[in-house]
Amino acid sequence: MSDSSAPNRYPFAMPAGWFAVAETPDVTVGETKAAYYFATHLVLWRDETGEAHVMDAFCPHLGAHLGHGGTVDGCQIACPFHGWKFDAEGDNTDIPYSERTNRKAKVKAYPTSERNGFVYAWYHPHDEQPTWEVEEVAEITSGEFSGPKRTNHVVQAGIQEMAENAVDSAHFRFVHNTATVPEIEQYTSDGHRAVMKSSQKFPTPRGVVDGRIDSIADGPGVSIVRFSGIIDTLLVSASTPVDANTTQTRFNYYVRNLGDEKTNSSVGAAFAAEVDKQFMEDMPIWEHKAHLVRPALADTDGPFMKFRKWYSQFYVEAISDDRTVFPPPYWPEKLAETPAKATASAKYGDA
Ligand code: FES
Ligand SMILES: [Fe+2]
Repeated sequence: MSDSSAPNRYPFAMPAGWFAVAETPDVTVGETKAAYYFATHLVLWRDETGEAHVMDAFCPHLGAHLGHGGTVDGCQIACPFHGWKFDAEGDNTDIPYSERTNRKAKVKAYPTSERNGFVYAWYHPHDEQPTWEVEEVAEITSGEFSGPKRTNHVVQAGIQEMAENAVDSAHFRFVHNTATVPEIEQYTSDGHRAVMKSSQKFPTPRGVVDGRIDSIADGPGVSIVRFSGIIDTLLVSASTPVDANTTQTRFNYYVRNLGDEKTNSSVGAAFAAEVDKQFMEDMPIWEHKAHLVRPALADTDGPFMKFRKWYSQFYVEAISDDRTVFPPPYWPEKLAETPAKATASAKYGDA
């Protein structure tokens, strides 16, 4: 049990929006899978027509987890415990040992969308319906780009803290040891979308090359980053709250087709290795940093406050304003080395 007297790690709870809960190949037709996001046990399943579904995990009959032994029967999911069946809306459609179904037995189903190689679920703390759709990334379907190479990380930090990294141009020199830093030329937002255009000079053996990094944040959980200059590459990433303090990030890397498969995959692997290396360098900063409500910024820092204002639209629940500094919990030294493996009770203590 967590200590309810412990102060919140962040001033905000989880944002509302579309979040990846799986990658397309992770859930095959007829398969059920357990997952845990939004501080909720979930079941993912794919019906016989190929459509993916995301629902709460526990069967309303006697609480079995539908993702541990549940089976798919056509367009229904069957519970492993007593065989009750539920359709994609979560309504009970069959009780094998009764003539009647139970109309009150309802499993919550999340709005689900599948594109860009991801299964996305819509999370809203009050179960309101989606107010936008995840955009389709044209390069993926057109065949101009090859990939993806996939990587995946779980970080003990809130989703907004990690997303803020995108507007932080100054940290590249210090955390990532890059010779040059991206220059943010434009940061604009329009509803759930925020667009950042930046340029960067890349030192190469043949001299300095002007490159571009243009990113789109498609809501709080999806981002599309296009790199150009040396070789055109594309990063489609998805970050999902495991809970308010823990985030899973999935990266899908693509490269513009260079002709042969071998070159494509070695360029893709090098691209993935570099971005992943940077991610691992950021990780200890995110896990141990405090969230400052009023950071002391330099005039040449990136557009942090614009970013935060844009991101705040996704919070449905109240943002607490009782403090301006939100430090992480203190991890005893041994746990601090591997916070990802620390259990909630080890970190926060038993109540
Ligand atoms: S617990 Fe699911 S059918 Fe009984
Ligand atoms: Fe970074």
